[in-house]
Amino acid sequence: MISFTETILDWYAANGRDLPWRHTRNPYAIWLSEIILQQTRIAQGQAYWERFMAAFPDVQALAAASEDEVLRLWQGLGYYSRARNLHAAARQIAELGHFPDTLEGIRGLKGVGDYTAAAIGSIAFGLPAAVVDGNVYRVLARHFGIATPVGSTAAKKEFTDLAARLLPADRPGDFNQGMMDFGAVQCTPAAPACLLCPLAGSCAALATGQVDRLPVKAKGAAVQTRRFDYVYLRFQGKTAIHRRGAGDIWEGLYEPLVNDQRPGLTLLQAGVKHQLTHRTLICDFYLWEPQQEPVLPEGYRWIEETELDRYAKPRLFELLLEKLP
Ligand code: ADE
Repeated sequence: MISFTETILDWYAANGRDLPWRHTRNPYAIWLSEIILQQTRIAQGQAYWERFMAAFPDVQALAAASEDEVLRLWQGLGYYSRARNLHAAARQIAELGHFPDTLEGIRGLKGVGDYTAAAIGSIAFGLPAAVVDGNVYRVLARHFGIATPVGSTAAKKEFTDLAARLLPADRPGDFNQGMMDFGAVQCTPAAPACLLCPLAGSCAALATGQVDRLPVKAKGAAVQTRRFDYVYLRFQGKTAIHRRGAGDIWEGLYEPLVNDQRPGLTLLQAGVKHQLTHRTLICDFYLWEPQQEPVLPEGYRWIEETELDRYAKPRLFELLLEKLP
């Protein structure tokens, strides 16, 4: 009988996605792809990976860049702490003199948790570490009929142990990427392709009619809503921005006046909805074109409107810019 592991490896050889970082063992290129893909879909992430590789072909180039340059190139991907950690880790690697090649060493890089360390270690160095992400949970929960709610510590251990037992010592990177792709392409959350599945004969969920009930999800925290207003100030070809501080979303990015309710504002658009992972933002956009030069709130500075592209901004600020007359 062909084992689960062999079936995944064969499926991956025939159906794995052709991605540029899969044609290299360069740990820098692989690390960069894994950081970008932490919270970004491949379709969007690939273009960013290509831009980063073009701008910073090696870790020394990335380490030598300014944080602002890195944030600017990251713009639009969200979760900007990933970009700051990427930059800090590049400096760690440059200082070390080589890319760390043990799991502990990789795990010691800023922005790298268990999942990312296992992915980089197995793909770049052939280290025997199993990756467990949402795709892997789903494939394993269905195939082996596991109803432990995912999200609990117990589930993490149970699924990690099982994935480690299935991992082939000689091809851990192919197996891990095969599991990710199999979950993304074949064993999808809704409407999985069970009729054409090479594991249909041994799938517990399929045999017992549980495919759409597995994996069992733990109840998550409710998504909160946060309201605010963005006010774009325009005075003699200049506008005002400030840099967001630590301890909140969008640390280090630039934005216009916030909740600055002066008379004479023109509403550009009300109720713009923007979804973050744990929060829904609802924002009104305004334009303010005063006759006299206003005194700016603390922390703001004047810049030429034509220089706005030089600043890394949240996507929401870009949406406002698209609405400007
Ligand atoms: N998501 C995160 N890392 C990935 C990889 N190496 N291949 C496919 N999907 C991924």
